Amino acid sequence: MKRILSRRQVRYSVRSLAERIREDYAGKRPLLICVLKGAFVFLADLIRELNMPLEIDFITVSSYGLGQTSSGEVRLVHDVSANVTGRHVLLVEDIVDSGLTLDRLRERILGRSPASVRVCALLARSSVLASRPEAIDYLGRAIPPGFVVGYGIDCGEDYRYLPDIWVLEEE
Ligand code: PRP
Repeated sequence: MKRILSRRQVRYSVRSLAERIREDYAGKRPLLICVLKGAFVFLADLIRELNMPLEIDFITVSSYGLGQTSSGEVRLVHDVSANVTGRHVLLVEDIVDSGLTLDRLRERILGRSPASVRVCALLARSSVLASRPEAIDYLGRAIPPGFVVGYGIDCGEDYRYLPDIWVLEEE
């Protein structure tokens, strides 16, 4: 495994994101929807850095299962419980890889008449950013190809507990 981001670099990214979000949502009490399971560590750090009035909720979706490639299908495991109508929704993602999960989630939330929907992702592939620069409103870091683990992100449900972010290298 190769470390691509230390916990210090992650903390710096989370702080920078929080500063921008706090400014943009001042006076708005946004609803942060955490995309489980991968984004739970990121959400926990982000809301403490935000330190502003907000609400949180969770949605659980899965497309990778135990493998390293997307199944091409985003399976809804557990839906949001809050009423999103009229709310300023911020989707909180750990990583945007193909962008499929994000597309499905955005459609789903937009269908419920929120006041606004934006996306905050800690990591995203450079390829997605190049082809769809508008897809992510708040981005921590662009990352090159390679299977990423740590800081909530898994491979076959392992490695989520790692404080740093790593890329798995071919054997
Ligand atoms: C991962 C990750 C994102 C999604 C990104 O979730 O946490 O939600 O894939 O991939 P995409 O941009 O190609 O759609 P996964 O399906 O592995 O579930 P998990 O969060 O429970 O690990």
